[in-house]
Amino acid sequence: MYTSSPTIAAAALGLLAALPSAHASLYLKSSPVIQVDAKNYDRLVAKTNYTTALEFYAPWCGHCQNLKPAYEKAAKNLDGLARVAAINCDEDENKPLCGQFGVQGFPTIKIARPGKKYGKPVVDDYNGPRSAKDIVNAVVDKINNHVKKVTDKDFDAFLSTNNDTAKAILFTEKGTTSALLKGVAIDFLDVIQVAQVRNKEAKAVAAFGIESYPSLVLLPGGDQPGLLYDGEMKKDGIVKFLSQAGPPNPVTGAEKPKAKKEKKEKKDKPKESTKSKKPEAAEESTSTASAETQAETAAPEEEVPPIPALSGYAELTKECLAPKSGICILALVPKEHGEEAEKALAALSGISIKHVHSHRHLFPFFEVHTEDADVAALTKTLELQAKVEVIATNAKRSWWRHYQGDFAPESLETWIDAIRMNEGEKKKLPESLIAEPPKESPTADKPAEETVEVKVEEDVKVEVPEPEAESASTSWQGAEPTPEATEVPEHPRDEL
Ligand SMILES: *[C@@H]1O[C@H](CO)[C@@H](O)[C@H](O)[C@H]1NC(C)=O
Ligand SMILES: *[C@@H]1O[C@H](CO)[C@@H](O)[C@H](O)[C@H]1NC(C)=O
Repeated sequence: MYTSSPTIAAAALGLLAALPSAHASLYLKSSPVIQVDAKNYDRLVAKTNYTTALEFYAPWCGHCQNLKPAYEKAAKNLDGLARVAAINCDEDENKPLCGQFGVQGFPTIKIARPGKKYGKPVVDDYNGPRSAKDIVNAVVDKINNHVKKVTDKDFDAFLSTNNDTAKAILFTEKGTTSALLKGVAIDFLDVIQVAQVRNKEAKAVAAFGIESYPSLVLLPGGDQPGLLYDGEMKKDGIVKFLSQAGPPNPVTGAEKPKAKKEKKEKKDKPKESTKSKKPEAAEESTSTASAETQAETAAPEEEVPPIPALSGYAELTKECLAPKSGICILALVPKEHGEEAEKALAALSGISIKHVHSHRHLFPFFEVHTEDADVAALTKTLELQAKVEVIATNAKRSWWRHYQGDFAPESLETWIDAIRMNEGEKKKLPESLIAEPPKESPTADKPAEETVEVKVEEDVKVEVPEPEAESASTSWQGAEPTPEATEVPEHPRDEL
């Protein structure tokens, strides 16, 4: 436990207060992207017959903001075929859900499709480029196929089985099944049996007198005669035509009646444990990492408050070099800063704010000035020579670590993550640097709220992702968003 001075604690609280929009959704209500939360996940994602792309994001994450246009474009292109949804993992109520999915970085895209058991989707990771085209293709690949391919050999059997049930047959030159037809089959699951017949199946083609391709025939069932569709081969027209045989299914599970809902959910809470909602893929995840563990560095264009500066005699000793002081990250910079110092400080405040946003308590970061006497003593003893240095100290455990590298946010963050994981080279912190802070007003005066709790390494370790997951996630985050050089074709909605 580490207790900060009132000024520093106030600065930390100030950071939180200065961020009123931290939780605001990235997507507007009018967006084609469906907004999913812990409450409606079951109804909107688990209990649908459609495949759903799921983005896990934090509104402040730069890569999430970059993904938004492509993701909305993908949603438009997939309209009627699959669903495109997003979950704000910055919302406290959604954190357990994001955790169940093993989300370790933002944005994370997964693709959920109905599994064998209704309400239990099969979830796969999407690790491809973050372009609309690639996302659309990946989702289309995961649309369940309920379209039966019928040949001359089984044509009679197909017609006579369940002959009360309506059937729709697409006669086509293609051997593959289009996303559009798969979508239609899902719309009419258990209402219309959808099939496709290839033009080379002479007997079937002759039976219906098909002369051009594609042609769509509806057999409404029973003794009713077959109907040939003569409209445009587009989703809306086809659905309207097929609805003569029966209405398409509801897209999602039914919403509970509003009035009862509130009470019921309160009662249900203990029973409705996270387990029952757990998607299959998440069960396989061994990671205990919470959603925010690997969150993105704040976007560079974002306004980020600076890390607190320690100045004046003995502040450094009091905060970081007292016998009981835990880990501190110190940026040793000249008072006048300069370019390099600015870069290091900006990177550190970005990393720090990220942890504030995700409500994680990380060890404190301080700016200290090399002109100050106690800082000068420190640099001399540790033989630090550069104008700008970043170090970590842990007086309680008598070690320090020297950051060596450029001051790019990614490099610094990797180094800080290593400290959290208790990895990397430690050096012995000379005893001479550790000192009791000068006595001042008793700590009892400090209001409890102003205490900043800092976890020791041992605690933090628990939250750290498995090394494997870590590297996967890192390379994923490193992936540059692919520029949308190629336009997404009007496919797949209009391609039979
Ligand atoms: C449909 O089934 C009924 C009895 O199950 C049968 O009499 C009729 O011939 C069948 N119709 C077709 C087109 O196979
Ligand atoms: C899903 O398909 C089933 C038939 O398999 C249907 O009864 C249901 O209404 C469909 N829609 C939803 C939201 O479950």
